[in-house]
Amino acid sequence: MADETLPILIADDQRDVLEALRLLLKSEGHTCKTYGDPAAALAALKSNAFAAALIDLNYTRDTTSGREGLELLKALKQAEPELPVVAMTAWGSINLAVEAMRLGAGDFIEKPWDNTRLISVLRNQIALGAAARREQKLRAENSLLRGDTDEEFIAQSRAMQPVLALIERVAPTDANILVLGENGTGKGVIARLIHRRSKRAERTLVKVNMGGIAESVFEAEMFGHVRGAFTDAKADRVGRFELADDGTLFLDEIANIPYAQQAKLLRIVEEGEFERVGSSRTLKVDVRLIAATNADIGAEVAAGRFRKDLLFRLNTVEIHLPPLRERREDIAPLAQSFLARSARRYQRAGMQLSADALRALEQYSWPGNVRELSHVMERAVLTANANEVQQLDFSLQPSLATAPAAAAPSMRLDDAEQDMIRGALERCGGNIQKTAEMLGLSRAALYRRLEKFGIRATE
Ligand SMILES: Nc1ncnc2c1ncn2[C@@H]1O[C@H](COP(=O)(O)OP(=O)(O)OP(=O)(O)O)[C@@H](O)[C@H]1O
Ligand SMILES: [Mg+2]
Repeated sequence: MADETLPILIADDQRDVLEALRLLLKSEGHTCKTYGDPAAALAALKSNAFAAALIDLNYTRDTTSGREGLELLKALKQAEPELPVVAMTAWGSINLAVEAMRLGAGDFIEKPWDNTRLISVLRNQIALGAAARREQKLRAENSLLRGDTDEEFIAQSRAMQPVLALIERVAPTDANILVLGENGTGKGVIARLIHRRSKRAERTLVKVNMGGIAESVFEAEMFGHVRGAFTDAKADRVGRFELADDGTLFLDEIANIPYAQQAKLLRIVEEGEFERVGSSRTLKVDVRLIAATNADIGAEVAAGRFRKDLLFRLNTVEIHLPPLRERREDIAPLAQSFLARSARRYQRAGMQLSADALRALEQYSWPGNVRELSHVMERAVLTANANEVQQLDFSLQPSLATAPAAAAPSMRLDDAEQDMIRGALERCGGNIQKTAEMLGLSRAALYRRLEKFGIRATE
């Protein structure tokens, strides 16, 4: 949406003036849309975007007072405060020009106009308007938390090499990327890395947590709204897609988008087109999408909870992040890096890991993956008595080592049930009778569930 390429709105009741202006501006490479009366100009703004408006202040109804023109100016500025408006006044009516500036005109031109001055005034106004829109965008961007720009990315293990190679290859393209992996495997880190390695690196990376948006505000959040679109809409608001224009939009937890909203997303993903809520003006954006989820998205599609067509738009490239337990060579360098970071943060210089401690970390199953490791290291720095962190300084839960699935929190009833059964079995040392009692089930009911979930019980 480079404002410079948008047309210029011209309003004047004299056809020859409109035509002369149109030809003059055309010779300067601008396209124009011309309107013979204030109402038509105002109506046009409701459904079109303009780089600037050039409006006469006097119209047929009342050819000298400038009232109609000033009303139009006010209405235009109200409808779109960032739109630069240049007023045209009759020669010598300087009071009217002053009044127009007071009402928000960016500049004025006296008729008959001087071509060179008119072009330079318009050019300035268009540039200022574009800057104002960019600033409006920036303000909105700053209110969003943006990720750290040079965070460290550790991936020395063999399992990560194909992942790294794939990122190198696809990051500079505009292909949409879907990042899949368990909780805490670094999907967010990967999204930021891809953005930094892309042609859009100098632009914004906007992140949206799709699990955190209430269904009722989904559209306003994603597409923006205009003032008055609903009771609380006191001002225009830029949506996430517009914020990310020319940059990257990171749709985190993509599997959590309610089904009804997926169709709305599909259109913008396919066409790049959308409307702000309450507006009929179609806007176009150029956005590179990165989506992430820890859900089994294929299963979500099979269960009818996620649109296949949307998935196919998002996963032009899929990146599968292996869980930490499948890339144990990364544990030591990650642990050292987190240790150093926490030691700096808590002013505990000289912290080290004992050999035992490192071994314990390398053997643990890490159901919470890299995030869990970073938390464990932070706690160890805070609680260790000596400079060398010992195994005892970690509170790793050994029981989890045998049941990696049990600790990754899941919101599926089936998973929760399975987790409870595994946990109970473990606590009862595999004794079926005791486990059934603990769970309030009959032995037969417990057996049915063991079979259903494929849990092997060794009594
Ligand atoms: N390869 C890595 N190198 C360095 N730090 C990492 C790496 N992978 C993950 N981290 C760190 O681990 C933490 C978790 O990573 P991140 O938030 O990206 O995971 P995630 O897969 O998005 O998790 P979730 O599914 O919960 O959203 C972050 O603090 C991140 O900086
Ligand atoms: Mg994440």
